[in-house]
Amino acid sequence: MTDQTASARRPEQALSQLRCIACGALSGQATQNFRCPTCGDLLEIVYPGWKSADGIQANLGPAGLKNLWRQRKISTLPVDQSGVWRFREILPALADWQAMISLREGNTPLYELPGCARSVGMQRLYGKHQGMNPTGSFKDTGMTVAASFAQQAGFRWVACASTGNTSASMAAYAARGGMHSLVLIPEGQISWGKLSQALDYGALTCQLKTDFDGCVQVLNEVVQRMPVYLLNSVNPYRLEGQKTAALELLEQLDWRVPDHVIVPGGNLANSSALGKAFLEMKDLGLIPCLPRISIIQAEGANPLVRTLREAGGKELVRVRAETMATAIRIGNPASWKKAIRVLQATDGTVEQVSELEMALAKAEIGADGIGCEPASAVTFAGLKKLLKQGFVQTNQIVILILTGHLLKDPEFTLKFHRGDLFSGTADERESGRLSSQQRAPVVLEANADAVIRTVEKFGS
Ligand code: F0G
Repeated sequence: MTDQTASARRPEQALSQLRCIACGALSGQATQNFRCPTCGDLLEIVYPGWKSADGIQANLGPAGLKNLWRQRKISTLPVDQSGVWRFREILPALADWQAMISLREGNTPLYELPGCARSVGMQRLYGKHQGMNPTGSFKDTGMTVAASFAQQAGFRWVACASTGNTSASMAAYAARGGMHSLVLIPEGQISWGKLSQALDYGALTCQLKTDFDGCVQVLNEVVQRMPVYLLNSVNPYRLEGQKTAALELLEQLDWRVPDHVIVPGGNLANSSALGKAFLEMKDLGLIPCLPRISIIQAEGANPLVRTLREAGGKELVRVRAETMATAIRIGNPASWKKAIRVLQATDGTVEQVSELEMALAKAEIGADGIGCEPASAVTFAGLKKLLKQGFVQTNQIVILILTGHLLKDPEFTLKFHRGDLFSGTADERESGRLSSQQRAPVVLEANADAVIRTVEKFGS
């Protein structure tokens, strides 16, 4: 046993089980499609051992856990340098730690957004920037866990349907683990940045003539017919990894619970994962209360908003999704039931924002020297609405979960600043109100006078 495995295999790590979210059936092993063999609903991971006499609660307790996780920050072991596996007490245990595939994911910054805060009359506003992960999105935190389990199970192939970020992340982790990756993406509907990542990391990339929801359907059939490991977010191991962003956030806030956490909603796995993390943290005595978790969708891709407003959260209202925030262009979200449970348990809400509101919010986050991809900016646009409604107060602690890096979708950003993002759309006329945030590049003769005149015209 190497030093790393000796340190990683702690007796406190409890074994996990898979439980169906609808019928509660328990199983030790997942089927190919990660659906309950009894009723077909989604699975979640539970840890019955946590509360046992030799479980983490009795063994370490909240203070012991917080201490242990903090101490690992100065460790040089790969398993501790991962901002995900550092929290391995609350993750499913790998039987073989040699299977771990890590790119030192997690460890993402919590930034203040002073300009954004000022513009909405808040004293403070924070962005937890998950776009600062190795492949530029939050997907890496879940991928390290699920890809490691694929490796441990001996799979040669992993696969996903994606709006771009999952595929980039999966391709990277598969490459690191020496596995082949199969990517199904909607043709012409993902950003070049994400597509180029999948290609460079060596994925077999198939652009299907359909949308994301169509890609999911095709993939579901593929995994039934071939021995490929499914890495979409119906895979509950991904959600376990994504939980760690919430733990890291609380650590960064010195375990002071924020009032609100605002998350973009697409397939609704991330909001579910973060909610699960907060509920588990409360259950383990790490925090005394819960933040309110709210989910923001684009108006054109709003199945959760409609499900709650039109069907009381009982039946999923599917939509034909259309938004320039291609990451969340999803009309049939897999994890809608999990997300609704989180909204109810944390007393959160849902809201939707227009394309113009999202584009403006994205530029404002950029102007704070941070930036993010369009899907992440719905959080700030949504916050503005929640403040107006009085759901959020200006003196509260609010965390925006920024899910993807600015450079994921440079085409959107360039078009925005050049002023042609909305050309030919129904929003074209109204898009004039974005001009205060637009910074188109200036073409000049190559001499200092021209540059100086331009600077002087710009003003101080
Ligand atoms: N933000 C970004 C940047 C995303 O890439 C996604 C989802 C979301 C938010 C929404 O998260 O699906 O958990 O509600 N992207 C997926 C993909 C679906 O394939 O990359 P969610």
